[in-house]
Amino acid sequence: MKSYTLIAPAKINLHLEILGIRPDNYHELVMVMQTVELADRVDIRSVSNDNIILHCGNPKVPLDRTNLAYRAAELMQQEFPDAFLESGGVEITLHKHIPIAAGLAGGSGNAAAVLVGIDLLWELGLTQSDLQALGAKLGSDVPFCISGGTAIATGRGEVISPLPSLAGIYVVLGKYQSLEVSTPWAYKTYQREFEHEYAREPTALIDRSHRVHSGDLVRAIAAKDAVKIGQRLYNDLEKVVLPAYPQVGELRAEFQRHPNLGTMMSGSGPTVFSLAASREQADTIYHQVRAALSDPDLELFVTQFCDRGVRVV
Ligand code: C5P
Repeated sequence: MKSYTLIAPAKINLHLEILGIRPDNYHELVMVMQTVELADRVDIRSVSNDNIILHCGNPKVPLDRTNLAYRAAELMQQEFPDAFLESGGVEITLHKHIPIAAGLAGGSGNAAAVLVGIDLLWELGLTQSDLQALGAKLGSDVPFCISGGTAIATGRGEVISPLPSLAGIYVVLGKYQSLEVSTPWAYKTYQREFEHEYAREPTALIDRSHRVHSGDLVRAIAAKDAVKIGQRLYNDLEKVVLPAYPQVGELRAEFQRHPNLGTMMSGSGPTVFSLAASREQADTIYHQVRAALSDPDLELFVTQFCDRGVRVV
């Protein structure tokens, strides 16, 4: 039986701007997404029966269809019934390194890896854009997780436009293990509190997103200017998550106390991150935050930007 091992990187948001609510009840977004070297490993192999079998050493990870990786396998079985009939079921083992429910797209990355893995197992020959179209059926972040690197994501997050690579920039991530923020809660709360700020006209949406596309952050990315990138980090969801979860704000403030290039919450949180000018600066932030907070519940990672999404090893 064939098997593959895939690497599924975590992502952070350098920019997350909410433009309005859509007829499908998702939010219209402009994001700048970035994958990092911190990654999960996903092993996948064909099995002789028709089952989808999911394993994970982390007891917090569900092993049924509430797990997006499971649903990715189910989607492939539905979309490619002939290949499914011929090849049978799949056994998937998730080796988790990315914190769970952290705003780092760990679950979306695992699902992206399952799509790529089954494409290889079943020799379907799908293109990246085929895989991204399938990924969009699973979740808004899955298409980006497939291609990774640095990209603008628009629509509900599934429309991906690549940007020049920022690989090598160092970043420190911090998350309290016991703290989880629900993404639907964050968006619903934002909608309730900030609906009055939404753009009313469809053309206003377009104009505003164009302004962002051609904005200072994208120029700083094109110049690979980490200082300017750090000055232009932005996340609308901080407005609802920080007041509701004071620990996130305290961690953010602690990160900001140490020399860094910019600090922000990723996605719907609760992970916060600081960009660093060098490996040394990243290590210093790591050690100083650890010393200041000395809380065993706090997970900290030093990692760097990478220029890829899911890959096969
Ligand atoms: O797409 P995904 O299933 O990952 O999104 C999770 C939830 O986050 C959605 O059910 C929705 O509540 C919220 N969301 C949103 N607008 C987006 C993306 C996500 O409101 N563009």
